[in-house]
Amino acid sequence: MEKKKVALITGVTGQDGSYLSEFLLAKGYEVHGIIRRSSVDYRERIAHLEGTPNFHLHYADMGDSMSLVKLVGKVQPTEIYNLAAQSHVQVSFDAPEFTADVDAVGVLRILEAVRTNHLEKTCKIYQASTSELYGKVEEVPQNEKTPFHPYSPYAVAKLYGYWIIKEYREAYDMFCCSGILFNHESERRGETFVTRKITLAAARIAQGKQDCLYLGNLDSLRDWGYAKDYVECMWLILQHDTPEDFVIATGVQHTVREFATLAFHYAGIELRWEGEGINEKGICTSGPANLVGKTLVAVSEAFYRPTDVVNLWGDPTKAKTELGWNPQTTSFEQLVQIMVNHDMQKVAADHVASVMRTNLAEYLEKGIVK
Ligand code: NAP
Ligand code: GDD
Repeated sequence: MEKKKVALITGVTGQDGSYLSEFLLAKGYEVHGIIRRSSVDYRERIAHLEGTPNFHLHYADMGDSMSLVKLVGKVQPTEIYNLAAQSHVQVSFDAPEFTADVDAVGVLRILEAVRTNHLEKTCKIYQASTSELYGKVEEVPQNEKTPFHPYSPYAVAKLYGYWIIKEYREAYDMFCCSGILFNHESERRGETFVTRKITLAAARIAQGKQDCLYLGNLDSLRDWGYAKDYVECMWLILQHDTPEDFVIATGVQHTVREFATLAFHYAGIELRWEGEGINEKGICTSGPANLVGKTLVAVSEAFYRPTDVVNLWGDPTKAKTELGWNPQTTSFEQLVQIMVNHDMQKVAADHVASVMRTNLAEYLEKGIVK
């Protein structure tokens, strides 16, 4: 009889954690996820999975070794997906110590929790590594052999995670691997990452709910893929015969400006770009009549970073040939369209809900409903 597959996911409430949970549940896994206490108990991305028989949530924290040791002992996972992180690069400049504790030492805590429970020969570990390791890039495109040059507190912390995974693989013969993932986005992406910030703003501006979108570096280049496609790769990395690290990317690059132009296009607005640097503006050339001629996108220094990574472009050849993964499942155009369509509906639904709340308040005040 095949051994029961038990996955433990740290970062289960995040973008990737939610898609990975769906993916593993569909494959028949028993899925356990780590949640942490917060003042608002609202787990939007996984709300639809709660109550599913094979899906279990546990309180623990990446900063609390004891909680991780106890949980790994209780769950006895056959696979751990370590996705938990303070994942926002700009925030890592404001909270560098917290970022290091969760993103660097947190990885060590997971590895030691597995060793403390004597599971090093039965439990495989996936580490959510990142293209940010290439940072101030030393070659384009980047592959598994490209030298690292981290360029933010986040990237430096993640570099420790990458090396400690490699160290435990060699020192203790553990099956632990890093997926060096390039940016991947979705309709579940956090709202302060640039893609989601743009798609939500495009939807709000198209529906008269926002006047202007302020962005930072419009020239920054990213290799953007769809998160739903990328979680399959995390699983494939752990099903490979040998523990190895893989670059996961689409192999296609675009600027932030190109993303914004396309997102506004799908929201029914065409933009023309004028000016340079801090003075650059995206002006509406067609769309709703009241918007034509207006500046809908402007640059703000508030979104510049002390050091910015500006040229990420991944080479997914190894993942394609050794894992049989298809990096082009969802194209850049499809990704932007999926996100804009979702946010157009979200903004419209939020508007209806707010009108209903206003009406209800008025009806209560007038005694029409009690
Ligand atoms: P995300 O949406 O920001 O999710 C981060 C997750 O980590 C959340 O579930 C969060 O929990 C959890 N977390 C943060 N601090 C924690 C702590 N102290 N203890 C326990 N859980 C904690 O990130 P994502 O986009 O899904 O990315 C997943 C992983 O891949 C991250 O490690 C990220 O650095 C890495 N990565 C992402 C990309 C990308 O483009 N998305 C690319 C390369 C690498 P709460 O909900 O409680 O905050
Ligand atoms: N967030 C943000 N907001 N970024 C902006 C803005 C803005 O208003 N304007 C321009 N940018 C630029 C940033 O300077 C950066 O060069 C690029 O857009 C992408 O920024 P983010 O979307 O915040 O993502 P990131 O690339 O810094 O980090 C994401 O991808 C990494 C993988 O390369 C995160 O998901 C990390 O966790 C992940 O490791």
